[in-house]
Amino acid sequence: MAIEFHRESQTFHLHNAFVSYIFKVLPSGHLGQLYYGRAIHDRPDFDHLFETAYRSMSVCYFDGEPAYSLEHIKQEYPTCGAGDIHLPALDAQAPNGSRLLDLHYQSHTIAPGKPPLEGGELPSTYVEAPEEAATLTVTLADGLAGVTVDLVYTLYEALPVITRHAVIGYTGEGALRLDRAMSFCLDLPDMDYDMVELTGAWARERHIVTRPLAHGVQGVYSLRGCSSHHFNPFLALKRRETTEFLGEVYGFSLVYSGNFAAQADVDPYHVTRVTMGIHPQGFCWHLHRGERFTTPEAVLVYSDRGLNGMSQTYHQLYRTRLARGEWRDKVRPILVNNWEATYFDFNEAKLLSLAGEAKRLGIELFVLDDGWFTGRNDDRGGLGDWQINYGKLPDGIRGFGEKLHEMGLLFGLWIEPEMVNAGTALWNEHPDWVLHEPGRRPQQGRFQYVLDYSNPAVVDWIFARLCSVLDGAPVDYIKWDMNRSISDAYSCAAAGSEQGAVLHRYILGVYRLYRLLTERYPHILFESCASGGARFDPGMLACAPQCWTSDDTDAVERLRIQYGTSLVYPVSSMGAHVAAAPNHQVGRMTSLTMRANVAIFGAFGYELDLTALGAHGQELVARQVAFVKQHRQLLQFGTFWRLQSPFAGNEAAWMTVAPDRSAALVAQYLILQEVNAGYRRLRLAGLDPDRLYRVTRLGSGARAAGQPITACGDELMRAGLVTTDEDPASEGDFVSRLYLLETAE
Ligand code: GLA
Repeated sequence: MAIEFHRESQTFHLHNAFVSYIFKVLPSGHLGQLYYGRAIHDRPDFDHLFETAYRSMSVCYFDGEPAYSLEHIKQEYPTCGAGDIHLPALDAQAPNGSRLLDLHYQSHTIAPGKPPLEGGELPSTYVEAPEEAATLTVTLADGLAGVTVDLVYTLYEALPVITRHAVIGYTGEGALRLDRAMSFCLDLPDMDYDMVELTGAWARERHIVTRPLAHGVQGVYSLRGCSSHHFNPFLALKRRETTEFLGEVYGFSLVYSGNFAAQADVDPYHVTRVTMGIHPQGFCWHLHRGERFTTPEAVLVYSDRGLNGMSQTYHQLYRTRLARGEWRDKVRPILVNNWEATYFDFNEAKLLSLAGEAKRLGIELFVLDDGWFTGRNDDRGGLGDWQINYGKLPDGIRGFGEKLHEMGLLFGLWIEPEMVNAGTALWNEHPDWVLHEPGRRPQQGRFQYVLDYSNPAVVDWIFARLCSVLDGAPVDYIKWDMNRSISDAYSCAAAGSEQGAVLHRYILGVYRLYRLLTERYPHILFESCASGGARFDPGMLACAPQCWTSDDTDAVERLRIQYGTSLVYPVSSMGAHVAAAPNHQVGRMTSLTMRANVAIFGAFGYELDLTALGAHGQELVARQVAFVKQHRQLLQFGTFWRLQSPFAGNEAAWMTVAPDRSAALVAQYLILQEVNAGYRRLRLAGLDPDRLYRVTRLGSGARAAGQPITACGDELMRAGLVTTDEDPASEGDFVSRLYLLETAE
């Protein structure tokens, strides 16, 4: 692995066994992008890749050299005013009103390892030993404007991963006003790509949408104050012919949980400019002399092994070098959550009877969801004070938790610490702690208002309140929820000139509270949540190793949601529960087996009234729980392969393979039953071609397990596994099949 600087040609080459990323200092001092893709040999120069052309109307950088135009040069971090007229990476206004910026190379450093992001609170990927990565920092400057930009690149040794971010500094008089500060810019030399994005809404998050690139701007974004249900801070560019298994794809993922923009801007000469970062709309950050601003980190993954190759890289990096803490590498406890079992209507006796049944069935963690604090019998009140409701829990959180511990269960608790309801003591005593402009009525969402997390005093107060609940209480797990989009982004604590910084500071406040809590309670497993999956992003994953994937718990809906989520996020990060049938979101009836066979590919649990299942259902749950306990290392930490897309038709399939390829679990799902259907074969992936596997079809519902077959890995991957139905009429709709593969030698 190497980051080389070829002094003579002024060329940087970041390369490992998988990728090459090449750019150079141009004669004009700008950084010109030459190549990003599959690894190529290092050579002293790649100057033949530098191209520009005279085009009528363009502005030339050197007098009398009409072909040297920044408009037509592929750049690493373009600005406005020196000839590039595309959307820039950086747009700032100097005190004299000038937006002209012309950044030239000054110096660079190359060092082993990967330092945390400057400034403290922004999450980022990390290394555990300096040999795992190397970091290049290139400093650019515009002397007249007093602006410096550090472009920071980290190349991981063993992964096709380059991370990028920028640090903008100011040394001038007065204040520099940053209006747009993207995390990175990448100019690719052609436009023959499909853009892949994750799109959705509440209860149908992260559906995969693919569209061919066209000239002009295309992209995804959020202006909701969170990364959102609607789009994810991710996009990929894949070649037209790329599939799940073959072909080139470039992934771009932003480690950030707030407003973001991710876009591809294709110019008339087919150059594709990819940028990603904090959304410029409403963003404005003032830098005074000596101050610096750090952008969020973007994670660039290259794959020539199709979309699965890209996803597996993200899974490995995000699971092991973004997530952190005691729970990172541990299999996740099987939980039961009382939300869909009781909603707000519970008392301790009811909870304990659910918990008792859960324990009897082998479940390990009981999660008490919304409604345990005063003023909270529906979603119209109570958020903010965090006072225990002794009417519901006579012995408090502590007493309830102790009872669970005595039963041998772990104890989990729901909180929504960023919000406040009108009428609470917090609301009455600190009206200025709510995001709103004085004199203007703030907007409600789910009957609640947003606390001003850009104000450190608010975060400190909430931290102290939560500590008074958690200190001494036997809490093992926290579900941190966030249930509305942010409006009225105005902080009473900030000067007028600082209002454009409020939403970014808000997210930094969220990260800070996560840090304070995870430092004080390192043993607690955190699960993030935002009305289901409105903040399922890498920033949150750095705070909490798992996230509630969606409020939609229907098994059929979940196929698409989990399939889409797996494009970037590891199985261990996806909270996935078996819920009641008929399902509470779509009213669909599916078998308990189908529901479990979808949810086991996630951080597994139940979210239904276990006491109402009947003896047969309870016995099935006990078997499912035992099965997950036996296989969760493989399920949660194996290599995940998507085999058949639920977006393409009536079937879906995926599998997970042990790191040493000694075992695998394959799941295939048939949504609607078919009559007299054709033969079915599922081609598996990721197995050892030379080893013999015993393949056992696991019993599903009433159906008995079939006789195992043995087959070599190559047979299973090339000829396929026969999955033709034997008796469709007996199975009905929404069918799942599970196959366990174990090496037979
Ligand atoms: C959100 C969450 C749910 C549940 C409720 C409680 O909708 O996504 O899982 O916790 O809030 O109010």
